[in-house]
Amino acid sequence: MQRKRFLAVAGSSALAAAAAEQLLGLRAALAGPPFTRQDVGGLTAASKHIKSYATAVAAMKKLPDTDPTSWKYQAAIHWTTLSPLKTSWDSCQHGNAFFWSWHRMYLYWFERIVRKKSGDPTFALPFWAWDSPSERQLPPMFRDKKSTLYRAWRDPNMNNGTGSLPAWAVDTSTAFATSVFSTPLLTGASDLFQVTPHGSVHVLVNGGMHDVQTAAPDPIFYLHHANVDRLWEVWRASYGGKDPLGDSSWTGKTWTFFNENGKPVTMSACQIINAAQQLNYVYESGPSPPLETCPSRFICCIPIYEYFQLVSPPIPPLGQQPVHIPLPLTTEQRQTLTNRAPTTTENIYLQLQNVQASAAPNVVWQVYVGSATPAAAAMTLNAPAQTNPHYVGNVVLFGLGMKAMPTTLSFKINRALLASQGPLTITFVPAGILINGQPSHPQVRETVQIGKLRVVVETIKQG
Ligand code: C2O
Repeated sequence: MQRKRFLAVAGSSALAAAAAEQLLGLRAALAGPPFTRQDVGGLTAASKHIKSYATAVAAMKKLPDTDPTSWKYQAAIHWTTLSPLKTSWDSCQHGNAFFWSWHRMYLYWFERIVRKKSGDPTFALPFWAWDSPSERQLPPMFRDKKSTLYRAWRDPNMNNGTGSLPAWAVDTSTAFATSVFSTPLLTGASDLFQVTPHGSVHVLVNGGMHDVQTAAPDPIFYLHHANVDRLWEVWRASYGGKDPLGDSSWTGKTWTFFNENGKPVTMSACQIINAAQQLNYVYESGPSPPLETCPSRFICCIPIYEYFQLVSPPIPPLGQQPVHIPLPLTTEQRQTLTNRAPTTTENIYLQLQNVQASAAPNVVWQVYVGSATPAAAAMTLNAPAQTNPHYVGNVVLFGLGMKAMPTTLSFKINRALLASQGPLTITFVPAGILINGQPSHPQVRETVQIGKLRVVVETIKQG
């Protein structure tokens, strides 16, 4: 089910030679005070780091794609439509716990390249704090057609400032409250966060950003991911650490990037877990996560799973119209789940299995779970998603579920189970950005197929 990419990587002698340089580079970078990644919400086009970023983007765009510090090469490290593949291209990680470590490393080396190309030795990537209600529009300097930070291939309303991200699409509370860092349960997403808000922001900025192959050439990509990286710190701070440092398949996994001199550098998760100490950057008014180091074996909690495979009738494809399907629980199953829903140590998930589309659908679908009567189903949709107990999350296909790589999506339904009576219905509603503050109804470009339904109860035992 998980995507496997087999990559051409630099030969081992080149890597060994690069290791020494990498060490020197890391030491040099750690010598000064930490670099501060600033909130773009407090910056303008005239702010130093914004000007530096624009300068560097322009300089990087002039370089040929054979140069690892060029704009095209750097973007292609994430994923590309270019071929043939060069060293480290198409290496982004989604749908597993490497999502967090891989993107941190990617941004770190990209930021160092930008620092050098900009000629600004203080440069650090700003972050787009879309989780803050005042930053739901695309930052203004990225909407200025004359700026090198502009990209025409985005949702036109996001690009002209009339569009904004709805609160439900950038909500982090469900993901952070329920996700064990990496679990077999969430195979296909590994944690809820990767779907909402990470994937939702990609799809709703739209244009190139909505597809993993075309996202990284957009300058906003890196500010979006700086915020994802910052929220990882918030998450770690709030839980006292829940990273899989005891899992050597996670800590030991390495990837190769390029430094500001275009030389390959290889890193493992053990080298990046402490951003402040190991990579010398902090976030403006940022959280203080625990100072974890390898090989400490920190286990925050052990999840135990019970599966309820459901016999569901064929599920119609998700398209332009809302889709209602029964959640086929037996009366006994419904009772069991309702009895267990109020506890805080048991997370009840509805899983959609074998979710796929042949191309990026262009929208996300909100998912609601409510009582099965038509009146109740209509009521379910009336309350705004953010405060609606029947709203359980979004179907988002970004980096997952596309191009014959089906995925599993999970939704926590404790609250919805308690708010509903009797048999249950799942409702999918296509949704887009707000335009002038009002919900929009974007055109669905590809339908989404759902194979099977399953309910999983996750019991968290403190370790
Ligand atoms: Cu590798 Cu937001 O994507």
